[in-house]
Amino acid sequence: MRRPLIAGNWKMNLDLARGRDLVAGVRAGLGSADVGTQVEVAVCPPTIYLFPIAEALQGSLIRLGAQDLYYEASGAYTGEVSATMVAETGAKYTIIGHSERRHTIGHLEDDRMLNLKLKAAHQAGLAPILCVGETIDERRAEQTLDVLTFQLTAALVGYGVTSPDDLVLAYEPVWAIGTGEVATPEQAQEAHAHLRNRLRELAGPIADEVRILYGGSVKPDNTAAIMKQPDVDGGLIGGASLKPDSFVRIITATLATLG
Ligand code: 13P
Repeated sequence: MRRPLIAGNWKMNLDLARGRDLVAGVRAGLGSADVGTQVEVAVCPPTIYLFPIAEALQGSLIRLGAQDLYYEASGAYTGEVSATMVAETGAKYTIIGHSERRHTIGHLEDDRMLNLKLKAAHQAGLAPILCVGETIDERRAEQTLDVLTFQLTAALVGYGVTSPDDLVLAYEPVWAIGTGEVATPEQAQEAHAHLRNRLRELAGPIADEVRILYGGSVKPDNTAAIMKQPDVDGGLIGGASLKPDSFVRIITATLATLG
């Protein structure tokens, strides 16, 4: 049984005071909900807020995650932050290869770099949340499953997955991110099942324990339909993770699907 993970990706939003308020609001809103045992919850603030948000999370079961890191251990890499530095904040997770880093932000990260980042995260004791997903052009050209196979295979070159915390996958169709256009539950299930099958070929039976999150315009009202899919094991939430009410409703809707 895979325990679902609901992770909020704050991206470059909120200031520190609002970030703290959000954490306080989520903690209050969850109350006695079974966070940690039935559903795992994480927040991924901007890097500079990792330490203070770790403080704000003290005493709660909500986990901390980073949005990115650099793969080198140290050196002349102005502006970058290493995996060890991220781990020092108390973070458990780090997102790797978000589509905005692959396609939008100046770095245009490629699969080779993401492979190195995955290894660096693992070496520092972090659980990587590797994002994969097709663009709208790739979907229209019916290349979705091939793109997913390629991104997964390239990221995992020389990377062993032997425990469920070695890898979390996030299927984030680029066309569904921040657009309000959510993948249908069937589209999500098809992609997730495909990823799990490919992962089984690459890593063996551990694939059945690896969580595959869906990301892209998840809102409280569409959560249940997506989370009910057999290969969907949680969500990576952008916009709807920025308000306590909507984030908590997504978590409780996920809990409800566990029956
Ligand atoms: P939205 O939920 O805002 O579409 O963002 C999804 C996302 O990119 C999470 O990483």
